[in-house]
Amino acid sequence: MKIALSGIDSRHPAARPDSVPAIRNVSVAIKEGEQIAVIGASGSGKTTLLHVIACALKPSAGHLNLGERDPWSLPTRELQALRGRLFLAPQTPPLPPRQRVVTAVLAGRLPQQSFIASVKSLFYPSDIPGAEMALARFDIAEKLFDRVDRLSGGERQRVGLARALASNASLFLVDEPLSALDPTRSKQAIASLTEAAKERGATLVCTLHQVETALASFPRIIGMKDGALAFDLPATQVTREMLHALYANKLDELNAPMPMSDELARPAAPAVMHCR
Ligand SMILES: Nc1ncnc2c1ncn2[C@@H]1O[C@H](COP(=O)(O)OP(=O)(O)O)[C@@H](O)[C@H]1O
Ligand SMILES: [Mg+2]
Repeated sequence: MKIALSGIDSRHPAARPDSVPAIRNVSVAIKEGEQIAVIGASGSGKTTLLHVIACALKPSAGHLNLGERDPWSLPTRELQALRGRLFLAPQTPPLPPRQRVVTAVLAGRLPQQSFIASVKSLFYPSDIPGAEMALARFDIAEKLFDRVDRLSGGERQRVGLARALASNASLFLVDEPLSALDPTRSKQAIASLTEAAKERGATLVCTLHQVETALASFPRIIGMKDGALAFDLPATQVTREMLHALYANKLDELNAPMPMSDELARPAAPAVMHCR
């Protein structure tokens, strides 16, 4: 799906009406099938930008076009249909705790399904091989029938990514997908995500904390600073100086080490009680 933002401002609903918008005067044009990483210090507006593109947050100024149409001028039903063609993967996937992984992954398709099919699939997972294949891309297929609340933070994050790939979206908006993954898993997850998007000709916009990974894996990089676009360049043209200016007051974030292990985020093992 093609995207065009022109002079976009956006404010969060909880923000004061007279406050500075979370993103300001952002203009970006994204072609169908492009793969873009959005980088910048925390609070720079990366997530807000994704939410505006996902039509989850309304712009307070400027124009947004998704696939040649202004989503906010569409009747509700058409806006919902458009939302069904995109997939917003939040940093912490909203996975109901007692749900099985297979159901959680297939829930990625709910926006594209009829109400009846959606309800049915909650009780009788309809495409178990499809869910398994999506999980296999993130090396987690063996958890197919596990409960979501028995997974580590990193495993949940990988299930969240499998859920995105299980959907038939033509636009993937992925927010910080690697925050709970170690370097090896991160590499694998980004490779799977970019390959899958390429295979189906889908557009991929991904916010990333890991600048080196962004530069190595995405051909185009958008740098956000204080709610504004700092640069929008091919990865090969992003220099050390630009990165230092982008993270000026937060250089520790630019050099932040990756998590050591996926397993660090594993929930504590349940206590075993011995009864005599
Ligand atoms: N739900 C919210 N309500 C009010 N302000 C918010 C909300 N979420 C984010 N903001 C503000 O919007 C700005 C951009 O935040 P965000 O888009 O989350 O940045 P990033 O993803 O780069 O860390 C920040 O100043 C932040 O405080
Ligand atoms: Mg964010």
